[in-house]
Amino acid sequence: MHQSVKNILVTHEQIVARSKELGEQITNEYKNHENKPLLVALLKGSVPFLAELIKHIDLDIEYDFMDVSSYEGTESIGDIRIIKDLDRSIKNTEIILVEDIVDTGRTLETVKKLMVQKGASDVKVVTLLDKPDRRVVDITAEYVGFVIPNEFVIGFGLDFDQKFRNLPYVGVLKEEFYK
Ligand code: IMP
Repeated sequence: MHQSVKNILVTHEQIVARSKELGEQITNEYKNHENKPLLVALLKGSVPFLAELIKHIDLDIEYDFMDVSSYEGTESIGDIRIIKDLDRSIKNTEIILVEDIVDTGRTLETVKKLMVQKGASDVKVVTLLDKPDRRVVDITAEYVGFVIPNEFVIGFGLDFDQKFRNLPYVGVLKEEFYK
């Protein structure tokens, strides 16, 4: 275990097993749809989860990336700045947003609205982790890997100061790092 990690919350084996279940569930729910969904992964945290999840989706899917950040120091906390937009049109496309964690829910709420504005016919959300205790907007992900307590976690894409994304598990960061 990395020296910055207090305890492991979700092991690599658990992530792989749960990703398989979610991939199979998505396959079953979308297999009879005429057009296959486009997975939109939010950079950078969702990359390891996307890579694991897509191995278990048995459909002709496509995926694309978006990078957004919140405007800091302004009152309009719901607004986001698009750093990297989608490469293709999503008009009349069924979207599955791929997230690493749903925390306050603000990012997801705003990106979901953006997808609808861009003409998506449906937007669903798959997230590796869900921290419901921190939610400030009423949003729920259709597919959730693990519900976790209100602790700051790192690993499997999640960072602290851009570090620790490469850990193969999800762990709680030692408090001395942010206190
Ligand atoms: P939200 O808009 O508050 O739901 O923010 C979600 C984003 O905040 C995630 O995509 C993460 O990048 C980041 N985040 C939230 N909680 C954590 C955490 O415990 N560890 C690392 N990043 C986090």
